[in-house]
Amino acid sequence: MRLLIVSNRLPVTLNETNGSYRMEKSAGGLVSGVTDYLASLKGSTSEPKEYLWLGWPGMSIPDKHKDQIRQKVQDEFNASPVYLSKKLMDKFYLGFCNKTIWPLFHYFPNYVVFNPEFWNEYKRVNEKFRDELVKIIRPGDIVWVHDYHLMLLPQLLREKVDNPVGFFLHIPFPAYEMFRLLPEEIRKGLLNGLLGADLAGFHTHDYSQYFLRCVRRILGLENHMGRIDLPGRAVKVDTFPMGVDYQKFNTMASRRDDPALPENKDVKIVLSVDRLDYTKGILHRLKGFELFLQKNPEWHGKVCMDMIVVPSRTGVESYQEIKSSLEEWVGYINGKYGTFKWTPVIYQFTSLPHETLVSLFRMSDVALLTPLRDGMNLVAKEYIASRNDKKGVLILSEFTGAAKELIESIIINPNNIEEIADAIDLALNLPEKEQVLRNEAMRERLERHDVRKWANDFVESLKEIRTVSEYAFMKKFLIHELSGKILTDYSKASSRLLIFNYDGTLVPLGDKPLSSGPSRELVDMLKTINEHPGTDIVILSGRSREELESWLGHIPVNIAAEHGSWIREDDSEQWTQLKPLSGEWKKDVLTVLEMYTDRLPGSEINEMDYSLSWHYHRSDIEQASYIRRELADHLISLTANVGIQVFQGNKVMQITSSGINKGDLARHWLGSKKYDFILAMGAGWSDELLFQALPDTAYSIKVGVTQTDARYIIKDHEDVMNFLKKLEQQKVGRQD
Ligand code: UDP
Ligand code: G6P
Repeated sequence: MRLLIVSNRLPVTLNETNGSYRMEKSAGGLVSGVTDYLASLKGSTSEPKEYLWLGWPGMSIPDKHKDQIRQKVQDEFNASPVYLSKKLMDKFYLGFCNKTIWPLFHYFPNYVVFNPEFWNEYKRVNEKFRDELVKIIRPGDIVWVHDYHLMLLPQLLREKVDNPVGFFLHIPFPAYEMFRLLPEEIRKGLLNGLLGADLAGFHTHDYSQYFLRCVRRILGLENHMGRIDLPGRAVKVDTFPMGVDYQKFNTMASRRDDPALPENKDVKIVLSVDRLDYTKGILHRLKGFELFLQKNPEWHGKVCMDMIVVPSRTGVESYQEIKSSLEEWVGYINGKYGTFKWTPVIYQFTSLPHETLVSLFRMSDVALLTPLRDGMNLVAKEYIASRNDKKGVLILSEFTGAAKELIESIIINPNNIEEIADAIDLALNLPEKEQVLRNEAMRERLERHDVRKWANDFVESLKEIRTVSEYAFMKKFLIHELSGKILTDYSKASSRLLIFNYDGTLVPLGDKPLSSGPSRELVDMLKTINEHPGTDIVILSGRSREELESWLGHIPVNIAAEHGSWIREDDSEQWTQLKPLSGEWKKDVLTVLEMYTDRLPGSEINEMDYSLSWHYHRSDIEQASYIRRELADHLISLTANVGIQVFQGNKVMQITSSGINKGDLARHWLGSKKYDFILAMGAGWSDELLFQALPDTAYSIKVGVTQTDARYIIKDHEDVMNFLKKLEQQKVGRQD
């Protein structure tokens, strides 16, 4: 088994000067974390042992150098470059990724640029990644797609290959109100793209929940404990907080041999490390530090803020603007407070190797990390992991994913400058004993939840959900060979009973359930099948007899209307009842239903002889789900002693006189004649009673992929139609 890591950026970024290429480690948490995890696979005895990393090498490469570079990154990094032109990258990377998704997902709607061309190029680049993957993928490979650049890739890949596909988002997933700002095509496209994965992972519980809410509201798909059942497979949505390579940082910190960084015991150091990004709250941090100096003159000359700022996305205007403001603020503070002997803010615009960073972490009294939004923030974890002396104080923004785990740090809201200033004061005065107590708790957690655990949990969870999909759905599928056997048995039989549920089986569950008549094609097929000698068809429905009569009355099939309150046998034109029912209860229930209809815009009542249905397919999905539950409770208490039953359908609640269910109906027709071929198809919850009532030799088929007592599953209405087409064409023997 190979692990194919796919991310926009490779672990190395290429730079060119005078025709020669340099390779530098790429910036950011994704590369840091995944690189450390992959390094840990070397010499490992457990799966996966092999990996390959696919991604963009950071610049456009002329054709004549492509092969040579491909070879070099393959040999040195186990990586395979995806070459993209500068033009494409401008609209994809600088455009859609970093001017649309990045600001929106980090709650900066004012920075968001919508440009249809960005979206088109985003789709093209995702397709390009898919094409590259398809060229190299082997059966058994696991694909792990990373981050917001490639949100369409899981779905695109699913259309071509059947390998397990996982997706992990390294940035926050925003709340619905933010996500819905995207144009409809984009918001639906992104969600569907992600649902192509078997497993979608997020750093925090909140992000997972926000994603699930968007899926519910925008795509109308419900989940059960984070599992979304789609036709043919399940998708799991779960939380995997990314960890750091604890041992690596711990070991590096125990080497005390970094002469480049002299320690000055007289000046306390407040350290910050991040990419130059407006999401990191760098200006808020400077303003907080300035306020701290203003409020605490006794600290002048005794504290220094050391800022490591890593160059990032210099092609995006908002990043250029923030650099100027940052430099102005550094100049302002140093000008206002600095002396010959003391520079309050030391600012380095550079990227340092982990060895140097660890030395800096070790000699800093405080780490001050103030992102306004950050998916995780690995620097916070690295700081604590590097402090094997257990000293040092972490001040951390509550808007980082890491704040959910590093709860013993000083948690602040960076929008409140006073809070930053006071936190610095508190941190500088925190007794060593308390520093140790706080850090011990955090270090223990970081050691247990390191980057290996993060990746192993993800890969294991991906395998698990694949097994669920295969076991629960695929194995039961009405696959071609099986449908062949059904068709042969059908032709050979001399008397056949076919029972079909109506909505969701013979007609799709559509937007207009109240007027879902059958298609011409369906009516013709039913007619032909019904004419096969020795064949009886029964259609079961919750709809009124008037509706069913007008749609299907001209074909001599058996029909059960209103959940079996009325039946029409094929040799009769009369509607009769299996047993007498009462509709007296309707008056009281109608009053209740009207009350709830007033509360839920878009809902409506459909009254029949012995049943009522309450439809809410046009209503707000979340409000409906809430009010529906209230109504169900209300009905249970109101009708405890009345003979009615309540069914929950697809965006409909059906209330009907009790005493007859689909199982009773099946038994009625099964008892009327001896059949040597029995097939029943149903889509809803109430069809389970039908399946249970059938003999073991019957073919019971559930439409849609949910847990069921049926022996087989067929994917959806479209497949039902394809199956009926085949049934229609069968040559059948005469019944003697
Ligand atoms: N980093 C680095 N050198 C630097 C500054 C940062 O290697 O000079 C690394 C840092 O150790 C961390 C990553 O870059 O692993 C930043 O990850 P984080 O999650 O904090 O933020 P991101 O850049 O992904 O938004
Ligand atoms: C964040 C993102 C990564 C990205 C990194 C650096 O960590 O989550 O996907 O690689 O920033 O940004 P860049 O635009 O240079 O790839």
